[in-house]
Amino acid sequence: MNFDFTEEQLMIQQTAREFAESEIAPTAVERDKNGEFPTEIIKKMSELGFMGMMVDPKYDGAGMDTVSYALAMIEISKVDASVGVIMSVNNSLVTFGLEKWGSDFIKEKYLKPLARGEKLGAFALSEPEAGSDATQQQTMAVKDGDHWVINGMKNWITNGLSADYHIVMAQTDKEKRHKGITAFIVEKGTPGFTHGVKEDKLGIKSSDTCSLIFEDCRVPEENVIWEVGKGFNFAMNTLNGGRYGIASQAVGIAQASLEAATKYAKVRKAFGTEIANHQAIQFKIADMATKTEAAKLLTLQAAALKDAGKPYIKEASMAKLYSSKVAVENALEAIQIHGGYGYVREYLVERFLRDAKITEIYEGTSEIQKIIIGRELLRD
Ligand code: CAA
Repeated sequence: MNFDFTEEQLMIQQTAREFAESEIAPTAVERDKNGEFPTEIIKKMSELGFMGMMVDPKYDGAGMDTVSYALAMIEISKVDASVGVIMSVNNSLVTFGLEKWGSDFIKEKYLKPLARGEKLGAFALSEPEAGSDATQQQTMAVKDGDHWVINGMKNWITNGLSADYHIVMAQTDKEKRHKGITAFIVEKGTPGFTHGVKEDKLGIKSSDTCSLIFEDCRVPEENVIWEVGKGFNFAMNTLNGGRYGIASQAVGIAQASLEAATKYAKVRKAFGTEIANHQAIQFKIADMATKTEAAKLLTLQAAALKDAGKPYIKEASMAKLYSSKVAVENALEAIQIHGGYGYVREYLVERFLRDAKITEIYEGTSEIQKIIIGRELLRD
């Protein structure tokens, strides 16, 4: 696979890098402490086209390719993985699916403002009793005239508090198992739709995560995405795209750990010389760099396959599985290289570890990625 980036891809990468350093980095530590949602940053990212990167300009998106999206996600997440996940959800899990499977009405009313970044989206599949086993949806939607009435609860919803539009999967025909699941768009403020408290998470603290509660929430029938009964297929296909987004986020964290460790090793002295001169440290840095590069290549491969219109399910899962593992491992090594300084907030690497862990859990745990990869490999 050829990764000679085009001028446009390099320009997007450079823009993301400069933006992350000048606009995101200055408040990243503070937002990690106080959990504040980066409203102003997201607004500025919208102006750069980063909230609807791959959406066709006819729907007010930036019309960029998936490789550009991955490159931008890596740069943003290298500086702040919280901002990375907000961007990833809006791009991969929300605008991507609405552009591909939304009706003209949905594209006009919901996709366009989401792609412009004027509105923020969330993707609500997980439930208290349906996380990895996503077919077990308990949230019910019952038809009543020209509306659907939704009752149930969703859990762990990224952007849950801040999102304007939520994509909500609900069971519309229990007998049909996953073929009876339907996807809806539910607007914030719809009567009967409330949310739980903001979760107090280990990491990605400046993104908001909460549960969503539906009590006789009436949603017009034109807010059905694709078709009644297609909600599970919609969710699975959308998640395939989400997975290279999270893989990119993980590559960004892995890269950040590598850069922090390298910088520190060049200035910290022990046994009469900079610790970078000790093989024990050189070997760690070499492993971290090699694994980061491998993770990045897997991620870009998945993105490039999608751009080429080729199958990418297995590759997206491989990219997420491996990159998330490397993000955690690199963060741990970066802490080890920093010694005691790595264990305190003053140095950034403890945040990298806290932020990295979730990449092995959300948008399909590592174990789920292995199921998907295994099934794809063993398919007849
Ligand atoms: N891509 C496309 N279709 C897929 C698919 C994939 N990766 N995986 C499964 N499917 C399809 C199957 O082809 C099948 O379709 P048909 O019936 O039309 O043939 C259907 O889905 C059901 O598949 P299975 O019979 O294999 O179902 P299963 O229950 O054995 O396994 C699973 C399904 C792959 C484990 C699925 O439940 C899964 O992916 N679970 C993880 C869910 C997940 O990723 N949750 C993350 C929540 S979202 C989130 O984290 C967002 C956030 O806020 C950051």
